[in-house]
Amino acid sequence: MGTYAVTGAASGMGKATAERLRGDGHTVIGVDLRATEVIADLSSPQGRAAASAEVLDLAGGRLDGAVCAAGLGGVPGRDSMILQVNYFGVVDLLEAWRSTLATAGNSKVAVFGSNATTLTPIVPRAAVRALLDRDPDRAMRAVRRFGNRSAVFAYASSKLALTRWARRSAISPQWAGAGIRLNVLAPGIVATPLLDEQIARGQKDAVQHLAVPIGGRGKPQDAAEWVAFMLSPAADFLCGSVIFLDGGSDAYFRTDDWPVSTGVAGAIRYLRRARAWRNRPS
Ligand code: NAI
Repeated sequence: MGTYAVTGAASGMGKATAERLRGDGHTVIGVDLRATEVIADLSSPQGRAAASAEVLDLAGGRLDGAVCAAGLGGVPGRDSMILQVNYFGVVDLLEAWRSTLATAGNSKVAVFGSNATTLTPIVPRAAVRALLDRDPDRAMRAVRRFGNRSAVFAYASSKLALTRWARRSAISPQWAGAGIRLNVLAPGIVATPLLDEQIARGQKDAVQHLAVPIGGRGKPQDAAEWVAFMLSPAADFLCGSVIFLDGGSDAYFRTDDWPVSTGVAGAIRYLRRARAWRNRPS
């Protein structure tokens, strides 16, 4: 049985995941604003530092995996909090836990992204770049340009930057090379308190009219099953993947957008990376 850190463990998909893992006999160290083992506010650097340290303390030097589900939906009036919790609330914690995850050997990390990454049109590149550069103030300036729709773009930017960070990290010597499998679950519409709040605070039409080819809404327990799978031995060969769990919304809107073959620039990048791989230090 393993020891897993689960952020957002007090509600929705994080809570369902914590329950699922505990049901299997694993030890779960939950992190949330309330009602779990580690009470912490992931919207501030101090809260994140305290949370990551307390988890490591409770884990007693062994973490077999981590699930980062804490997040805020794109409701108006909290753009900065969205960027802080959804991006830095994942990246800062995982970087603090990385060496302990590496010590476990064959550890697994599942990060909650979103299909907002591919469905939200014109996500500001400047905001994504700023987050990847660890510059929340610059990201805020990029997002504010969208006026009263800024929260939607703060949300999409946070999840796109997070997904990119996860894919970049996943394949690196520090993660893959250290035996840590890092992957992203990208849910669509899942019935949780976050979704209820989005509907109540201005996104009713966007949610109700979103194309979902399979129909209905996802269930938190189903997401938890996918996370359990991403933490299991079945995921030993899963690395840097983004798994869409969205009833077909991404496939509907982005049908032929990916997988795509690359153009000339992509071919050059491919050759460069292939050479770097062949010449990597052994
Ligand atoms: P939820 O609202 O039910 O749970 C999120 C949890 O994060 C809550 O327990 C909340 O207290 C915690 N949290 C928020 N701010 C925090 C902070 N400053 N410090 C510590 N904890 C904090 O949400 P849900 O729907 O279960 O979301 C889980 C993840 O899935 C989130 O990252 C969300 O962005 C993502 N997601 C959700 C979708 C949905 O339709 N429900 C769709 C796509 C992605």
